[in-house]
Amino acid sequence: MSERSDLQGRRIVLGLTGGIACYKSAELVRLLTKAGATVQVVMTEAAEAFITPVTMQALSGRAVVTSQWDAREPNNMAHINLGREADAVMVAPASADFIAKLAQGRADELLSLLCLARPRERCPLLVAPAMNREMWSHPATQRNVATLAQDGTLILGPGCGDQACGEVGDGRMLEPTELLDELIAFFQPKVLAGRRLLITAGPTFEPIDPVRGITNHSSGKMGFALARAAVEAGADVTLVAGPVHLSTPRGVKRQNVMTAAQMYDAVVPCAADHDVFIATAAVADWRPASLSEHKIKKEGKKVAPTFELTENPDILAAVAALPKPPYCVGFAAESENLLAHARAKLLRKRIPLIIGNLGPATFGRDDNALLVVDAQSDHALPADGRPTDKLTLARALMQELANRLQAVQA
Ligand code: CTP
Repeated sequence: MSERSDLQGRRIVLGLTGGIACYKSAELVRLLTKAGATVQVVMTEAAEAFITPVTMQALSGRAVVTSQWDAREPNNMAHINLGREADAVMVAPASADFIAKLAQGRADELLSLLCLARPRERCPLLVAPAMNREMWSHPATQRNVATLAQDGTLILGPGCGDQACGEVGDGRMLEPTELLDELIAFFQPKVLAGRRLLITAGPTFEPIDPVRGITNHSSGKMGFALARAAVEAGADVTLVAGPVHLSTPRGVKRQNVMTAAQMYDAVVPCAADHDVFIATAAVADWRPASLSEHKIKKEGKKVAPTFELTENPDILAAVAALPKPPYCVGFAAESENLLAHARAKLLRKRIPLIIGNLGPATFGRDDNALLVVDAQSDHALPADGRPTDKLTLARALMQELANRLQAVQA
């Protein structure tokens, strides 16, 4: 979920049709308005059986429109005005019946009428289906959904899980936070469309015995923000994550690993199938040379145990040394002399780009300040050097990356 104003200035028509999931749309309105959007709610008669316009008006701060005969509109053309004034129409929940209507281009009440009448080239339609699993899997619904997709409608979900009817399966409306993130992603420029990105994130954990190990303070937040920003930018994204407590951004393929050796095995064999490799993981440089099968006990020992360490493989350097490497981006977490250390790593690992940051100042935090360093130049991100939230930085890095990929290919 976003705390930023990612939808600032966006005008959204939110359509509700008949379904239990209408209760989730109340929360959705709250999230959309909190993210800066102006939300105009339109409800079908069936939706009013599940939630009242009073609730939706109070949450959106605008009178709900329910009828094409609404005399408050000076020209009495609510269906035309609503579409012209909106940046997007989102129908959530979209019932099986409403989807069937959209597929046929029927328009016998306000919401379907405005979906048909909206200027399609500048007012996209996003639909979040919500229905029983049998209704969802029925060939008629699947046919209708395929027709909508062909017509340029974006289908959001549905999710899978417990249903109001007591059954379990596909057909649940996506959660409000997921719909919010989908809408935010929809508005991001698709600067990495068609690109494949591989990203490492988080710390590694090198076991000493079955209960102890060597790790570090990396939270994985920067890598996860980059993965989300890359999906938003239209890329196909695989995230190899060390042990972190973060949920997977929508659309990201995630593989969990524990040790540096596991991360190496997950990354190096498939790295060449990608256009870009971004190594944000704080990989442990060393691991205990041997792993004790049982817990090392204090009992009866007068001196503290000592451990022999052995070096872990350098994942980034190994990927950069492949015969046809992806475009490699490293991260340098330093505690001083950021530029000098970052440039030294760039040369040592033979990579075209490295992002420097001060580790102690950023580990675990939601914001960061970066130094973008290549062989010839460096610049601060953001330009004023003031810490900014990691998703904003990640989006800026995606644009930077898109420009650099274009330059490499030109
Ligand atoms: N890295 C890696 N595999 C390792 C160590 C580091 O892929 N075994 C990657 C990190 O993900 C990061 C970059 O290399 O993108 C720099 O990591 P860092 O630990 O700062 O660099 P080191 O080479 O370990 O240098 P030092 O510890 O001396 O600062």
